Amino acid sequence: MNKIVIGEQIVKSFGEGNEMRNVLDGVSVEIDEGEFVSVMGPSGSGKSTLMFALSGTDGINSGKVIFDNTDLSTINEENVSDIRRSKMGFVFQQPTMLKNLNILDNIILPAMHTNRKNTENIMTKARALMKRVGISDLAERDITQVSGGQLQRAGICRALMNNPKIIFGDEPTGALNSKSAQEIMDLFSEINSEGTAIMLVTHDAKVAARTDRIMFMHDGKIVSEIKLSRFDGTDIDGRVERIAEKMLEIDI
Ligand SMILES: Nc1ncnc2c1ncn2[C@@H]1O[C@H](COP(=O)(O)OP(=O)(O)OP(=O)(O)O)[C@@H](O)[C@H]1O
Ligand SMILES: [Mg+2]
Repeated sequence: MNKIVIGEQIVKSFGEGNEMRNVLDGVSVEIDEGEFVSVMGPSGSGKSTLMFALSGTDGINSGKVIFDNTDLSTINEENVSDIRRSKMGFVFQQPTMLKNLNILDNIILPAMHTNRKNTENIMTKARALMKRVGISDLAERDITQVSGGQLQRAGICRALMNNPKIIFGDEPTGALNSKSAQEIMDLFSEINSEGTAIMLVTHDAKVAARTDRIMFMHDGKIVSEIKLSRFDGTDIDGRVERIAEKMLEIDI
């Protein structure tokens, strides 16, 4: 299986002198193309930092990140940004959208950046994605005029505009009620089943339970992981229980 991203012995530290601390303390991780993984762990354990390292958003102090067969340390920052824009999608707890643009314009923004010439195709694609996630009627709305779940759907459309090879989600359901969270997870499952790899950071065992593999972080290290069968819509309780047992076992 091809790997979409490989992290080798990643060290990331913050602070200076005596205050210097390894927030990522030699983390090695591999994600297969098309895999659906999640990362759990206490607040401050380094989950978001790991996501930013693997996506080349932030530099690292030592170790290596190989994204889609390219060692990110061997290319300049502009090329890393190009890879990020063309091959990765990002979804955050609170979608970062521009207030002076409507929903549709926010969705097409990253695609306009990579392919300005093709406005018509971009519009068609955005409309199709909005239809698919059930927010067709909201194109002209201001971002303050939609619900949290609707805004997150728009965020997912935006992340999908460039047909990414992987979506990085940092607590994408964290601000949603459980019904909306479930619907967003249904959407992620669907996107994943079409071949897009997904890495979700989450505090919610119910979210993690729907992924193929769960990595557990503690103090800047991946301390354990469990592999589940592909989620087929059944036995969510059993899967949640396995995660809970593991967390108890490793004491996080
Ligand atoms: N830019 C920064 N400068 C200094 N310290 C930082 C910086 N970014 C993160 N940290 C520290 O690194 C540690 C890990 O942060 P990170 O955001 O990765 O945690 P997390 O596991 O995502 O936590 P949460 O679940 O609360 O989001 C924390 O102690 C945090 O304070
Ligand atoms: Mg975080």
